[in-house]
Amino acid sequence: MKFKLFKPLFFGICTLLGMNSCTAKVNESEETDKNTNTEMNSDTKSSESAMNEDSKKLVVFFSHTGENYNVGYIEKGNTHIIADMIADATDADIFEIVPEKEYPKDDYNECIEIAKTELRSDARPAVKGDVNVEDYDVIFLGYPNWWGNPPMCVYTFIEKHDWNGKTVIPFITHEGSGMGGTDRKIAEACKGAKTLTGKGLAIQGKVAQENQSSARKSVERWLDGLDMNK
Ligand SMILES: Cc1cc2nc3c(=O)[nH]c(=O)nc-3n(C[C@H](O)[C@H](O)[C@H](O)COP(=O)(O)O)c2cc1C
Repeated sequence: MKFKLFKPLFFGICTLLGMNSCTAKVNESEETDKNTNTEMNSDTKSSESAMNEDSKKLVVFFSHTGENYNVGYIEKGNTHIIADMIADATDADIFEIVPEKEYPKDDYNECIEIAKTELRSDARPAVKGDVNVEDYDVIFLGYPNWWGNPPMCVYTFIEKHDWNGKTVIPFITHEGSGMGGTDRKIAEACKGAKTLTGKGLAIQGKVAQENQSSARKSVERWLDGLDMNK
């Protein structure tokens, strides 16, 4: 389905769900959520010790391919592009969260409907495969902004693991809502971890998809700020 046809439906659903934030900054091309890199929290200090060359790093992400908001049909998801950049820059291992029942690729409305049902029912859709998060020190956790939440399969993944003592660094792609408070939800879900709320990365999906040199610069600047480049 073309974006033109999909757009009213998308915003309609946002309104229905009372999630107007997705329309708020939809035309912004600047990718960094202004709230994201400014709020430091008490986790920051302790996380610094995890950010050394010896720490074992893992990038875990979910990303949707096929018909996607504002970018048409894509073969590689927006968050996936950013995940690869982070893994390259930090020499991290990488793992993709793939739901057993994948979201429809050709019919965006259907994808939206499924996502909405899952969100409303607080579902935990089964995911394929796994990675042993317990073997790592630092986990970059990436996902798209779906109405101010990570897709529910991200919670399925999180709840399979023991996050005690880990440092979790959220990153997100979006079309206007930025991090949207999802880092706080991740912090709550990753029990026992030090989640860098307020220090995650938010990049507009269209920028990730269509302006990769700009996206890469944002990733590198952000990693420099965290002192995480290899
Ligand atoms: C179900 C659904 C809900 C979405 N809700 C929002 C939203 O509330 N705010 C926003 O900025 N973008 C929203 N988007 C757009 C995605 O966050 C954006 O396109 C993202 O870059 C997709 O990344 P991906 O290709 O890795 O899945 C939504 C997309 C979908 C499919």
